[in-house]
Amino acid sequence: MTYGLTKVAPYPNSEAKHPVVERDTGNAGAPAVNLAGARLSFGDRTLWDGLDLDVAPGEFVAVLGPNGSGKTSLLKVLLGQLALTSGTAQIAGADARAGNADVGYIPQQKAVDDGLPLRGRDLVGLGVDGHKWGIGFRNRAKRHKLVDQAIGQVGAYAFADAPLGSLSGGEQQRLRVAQALVGDPKVLLCDEPLLSLDLANQRLVSGLIDRRRRTHNTAVLFVTHEINPVLPIVDRVLYLVDGQFRIGPPSEVMTSAVLSELYQTDVDVLKVRGRLVVIGTGDAVDALGSAGGHHVHEDWA
Ligand SMILES: Nc1ncnc2c1ncn2[C@@H]1O[C@H](COP(=O)(O)OP(=O)(O)OP(=O)(O)O)[C@@H](O)[C@H]1O
Ligand SMILES: [Mg+2]
Repeated sequence: MTYGLTKVAPYPNSEAKHPVVERDTGNAGAPAVNLAGARLSFGDRTLWDGLDLDVAPGEFVAVLGPNGSGKTSLLKVLLGQLALTSGTAQIAGADARAGNADVGYIPQQKAVDDGLPLRGRDLVGLGVDGHKWGIGFRNRAKRHKLVDQAIGQVGAYAFADAPLGSLSGGEQQRLRVAQALVGDPKVLLCDEPLLSLDLANQRLVSGLIDRRRRTHNTAVLFVTHEINPVLPIVDRVLYLVDGQFRIGPPSEVMTSAVLSELYQTDVDVLKVRGRLVVIGTGDAVDALGSAGGHHVHEDWA
């Protein structure tokens, strides 16, 4: 695998801590996401156990870990698509349930069929129709306005009316962000939203999400194989490995000692020009290569 070295460009408007934005959070005082004693097992296999996690409104939590460690499953629990084996999962003080308008979701990217007769605008509209507005006549104007605003927020006016299949991966992903945000969710769940994006689009997409959580106090759970593109904006990391996990700020979790313990092998974490490079040996190299994804191979412009 490759271990290139690159420099990191500062994010505009990115402070270490997110500012507090006043907003009606419904169930006042409740964390945006709460997992308590959460365990998820499939048959004999336990993905994680004893998981306690409160995510505050506006907080950005990166979820890292190797393939199969249960990152997507965690999002599915919060989406109400998977039931915990034990423990509880809540969104803004209410039990996780399917179709919750408080939750926006950017699923793992799938290639859009070239022949699909769907425009970006239609995709964003699905995020509105998914819950409260419906397609009633009286809501049409409101719906149109919401969709238009969301398209504007991700800078997608220029291509929102083109067939989705004709757009680049980055353009499609911008529209997926708009779709996830159009319902003004309190919690945004992102499953590898930077996958297959070039560096400029990685920055653009993570910048959009960062701006949103700062301006709207949206809590973000962000599954990623590559922490570097979001390192400047991450408040905490949840690192899952083979049933074990650690939660904390990057400076506490992304260390040689913690990752060596999680992976049960020697792992070195180096900080090089603001980026983290993780180096393991033997099988762990493969595990880290696909999972930690800390092999660095791109340059900030
Ligand atoms: N409904 C299910 N029934 C049985 N096993 C499942 C189910 N859903 C997921 N799994 C298994 O649970 C494990 C974790 O899957 P999950 O998709 O959460 O991993 P992940 O951390 O997102 O991995 P990746 O990095 O590859 O996306 C996998 O081994 C998967 O096969
Ligand atoms: Mg996954």
